[in-house]
Amino acid sequence: MSEQKLSQPIVAANWKMHPGSLPKAQSLFANVKRTASHLQNVTTVICPPALYLGAVASEYGGTKIIFGSQDVSTFARTGSRTGEMSAEMVKNAGGKTAIIGHSERRDMGETNDVVAQKVKRALTADLHVMLCIGEASRDDEGEYLDFLRNQLLAVYRKVADRFYDRIIIAYEPLWAIGGKADQAVTPHTLHQTAGFIRKVLRTDVAQALGDRATLLYGGSVKRDNARELLDGTEIDGFLVGSASLSADHFCDILRIVNKTQNED
Ligand code: PGA
Repeated sequence: MSEQKLSQPIVAANWKMHPGSLPKAQSLFANVKRTASHLQNVTTVICPPALYLGAVASEYGGTKIIFGSQDVSTFARTGSRTGEMSAEMVKNAGGKTAIIGHSERRDMGETNDVVAQKVKRALTADLHVMLCIGEASRDDEGEYLDFLRNQLLAVYRKVADRFYDRIIIAYEPLWAIGGKADQAVTPHTLHQTAGFIRKVLRTDVAQALGDRATLLYGGSVKRDNARELLDGTEIDGFLVGSASLSADHFCDILRIVNKTQNED
């Protein structure tokens, strides 16, 4: 079982419930692959709808692009669980990672406990995890920070430390998701929040994890704001929703991250 971290920076595409057919998904992937497979300094993650995962994953055999699901079941292995998809199935379909705890799923009733259970299932099946956390809104008293801390600790307290390097945190504030570039966090806010997340890891989970953990940002990431969101904000890449549905836009984001990394 590999405990290795995925190589950073990482740019992940969350296709959500798009596109409407497998040929369209294959064509979108073919257009992304042309660029992503040649970029040396960025790991690209494609998370199509589960129905397309195996077919899309089978179209690439290199190391620069990996594939993931957008969820996994709380249940292990096979069983009488109508509609469920186990982490093991994701792995066997060519997936290497899974988005878990996305706000759109938490909105459908996923609690911190359920998220922690899914994370454990994914890790046990040898997947990496992209654990989404994010506050719905901010308040002057800083209660949203407790909310973020609880979301993190609900998972880390249930997971053995040998798995920590396979958890990627995706900070996705709900108020920033699904908009235009100006709806994203400001670099200043992102820098502060990334610092807070790393502090929680350092003080409440494991000292070394504060610096070592891979932290992505998601929420209205576009080719227009990717550069400023990456510069000096202490994050290691992006989780991209709507902009990942255009190969042109997504590949521009990949190139920006690839280039920024090259300059460091
Ligand atoms: P967005 O979505 O890029 O469209 O804001 C991000 C996400 O929900 O993962």
